[in-house]
Amino acid sequence: MTRDEGWRARVILTNMSGVPQQNTEKTFYLETFGCQMNVHDSEKVVGTLVQEGYRQVESVEQADLILYNTCSIRDKAEQKVFHRLADYKKLQAQGKKFGVLGCVAQQEGEKIFERAPHVSLVCGSASYRNLPQMLTQLEGKPHAGDSVPVDSGFLASLGMTSVGNDVGVTNRGSELETRDSQLVRITGLDDRQTDKCFETEFTARTNPHRGYITIIEGCDKFCAYCVVPYTRGKERSRTSQSVLAEARQMADLGYTEIQLLGQNVNSYRDPDGKKTFAELLAAVGEVPGIRRVRFTTSHPRDFGRDIVEAIDAVPTLCDHVHLPVQSGSTRMLDAMQRLYTREQYLERIAWMKAATRKISITTDVIVGFPGETEADFAETLSLLDEVGYDAVFSFKYSARPNTPALKLDDAIPEEEKSRRLDVLMARQRDIQVARYKNYIGTRCEVMVEGHNQARGQWIGRTSQNKTLNFTAPQTASPKIGSYASVLVTRSFPNSLVGELEDAATSCAENAREMGHAVV
Ligand code: 5AD
Ligand code: SF4
Repeated sequence: MTRDEGWRARVILTNMSGVPQQNTEKTFYLETFGCQMNVHDSEKVVGTLVQEGYRQVESVEQADLILYNTCSIRDKAEQKVFHRLADYKKLQAQGKKFGVLGCVAQQEGEKIFERAPHVSLVCGSASYRNLPQMLTQLEGKPHAGDSVPVDSGFLASLGMTSVGNDVGVTNRGSELETRDSQLVRITGLDDRQTDKCFETEFTARTNPHRGYITIIEGCDKFCAYCVVPYTRGKERSRTSQSVLAEARQMADLGYTEIQLLGQNVNSYRDPDGKKTFAELLAAVGEVPGIRRVRFTTSHPRDFGRDIVEAIDAVPTLCDHVHLPVQSGSTRMLDAMQRLYTREQYLERIAWMKAATRKISITTDVIVGFPGETEADFAETLSLLDEVGYDAVFSFKYSARPNTPALKLDDAIPEEEKSRRLDVLMARQRDIQVARYKNYIGTRCEVMVEGHNQARGQWIGRTSQNKTLNFTAPQTASPKIGSYASVLVTRSFPNSLVGELEDAATSCAENAREMGHAVV
């Protein structure tokens, strides 16, 4: 499986968590690329825009303001936004305005205006709380043509500068050059050290049953290939008190599943020193009304035994850990500056395998990192066999701006990277075929996520994060967001199929009785 070059989420408003919807003529369209952090950031952006009187629409054509929340983890992901901008450039003539948010905005900054001159707003994720002011500026001045005087006091209060006819909202206080064009150009860029981004006032969660909470922002690990420390800035954690307050608030609103987010979620350090990451996990799992807690993404270096102990002790913590390995070769891990060896990684896997609950393990792998030999690659394949992952997200190495790996030679040709990716995916597919078969005959609790009319199946998700599609008698119509017990009858490499059981039994209890793996 590969992920997230193709990941694209349209965060469409379904539940505003208390944000009043307004009947308004100002409309926006938002498309999101990349990881869950971006999806959750988009929920904050939607919440803020709706609060500012905008209405979300489902197509570019219907919108006055078109926003892209972007990802720059790999080159392909970054190019997507420029393709989108080129595709819709002609709509500028209809007075539509364009904004680039997220990691590409942070990475490319004002260069975006040169590459796509029809863009009016460039804003990194740490500056979203300033969006209302930026929107005011965006609306307050004609998009092109006449110049409108800008209130310098107001700009100063925002750390904004106004030069000539251009307006720049810069959190680093640098002045924008005077431009020939009189487009409104607004940037919110260099707030990467702030922790205020946790506290966006309005969040439009897209799913009324399952929601994200960011507990840590940024990354200090500086893996040799990774752009994240440059786009998302330094690591900063949110207090456990504030995380728990949001979890309780969500439970009160009817959410039953919470996913704790962070680029390095288990590097979490409570600024108040009250809770370790494992203690915070357990505490969220104990919030009345919460039935499932997930967390992503973990770094092996910071992955302590206490996390496994928490999963064993608190049934609401899901029995799934995503632990990116990147390579099975210690030599490559060293070159990637991952700060652990193959053996140390396998030690963490052994802790999970020794747990009372059967913990499903998934990972990320990069193939074709500079200098990766056939022998290194063979070690990655043997690691897949040894661990027995339930999913592997695999990527061809992509050189990124600013990263230490740019200086390495020994580049692997693109065709060779593709070959290794294919070999790896085929090997993992075989592993999953065998692993998923083991679930046939077990009973699993699923959260009901939807209904596939064409297939006549309900879509469920197990605690182990597997998709379990199931049929139900016509008389039983499971509610979306409810939990149901399903008997697994068939398996595929990436999903399971089953039938709704009458008795709502717990998956874990049943599988333990039957001596089966627990999904
Ligand atoms: N090239 C390829 N894959 C990358 N990832 C991060 N940076 C790069 C890169 N430059 C992958 C890693 C990470 C996942 C989110 O994306 O596997 O865990
Ligand atoms: Fe990137 Fe490494 Fe930080 Fe993960 S731990 S976000 S791969 S630098």
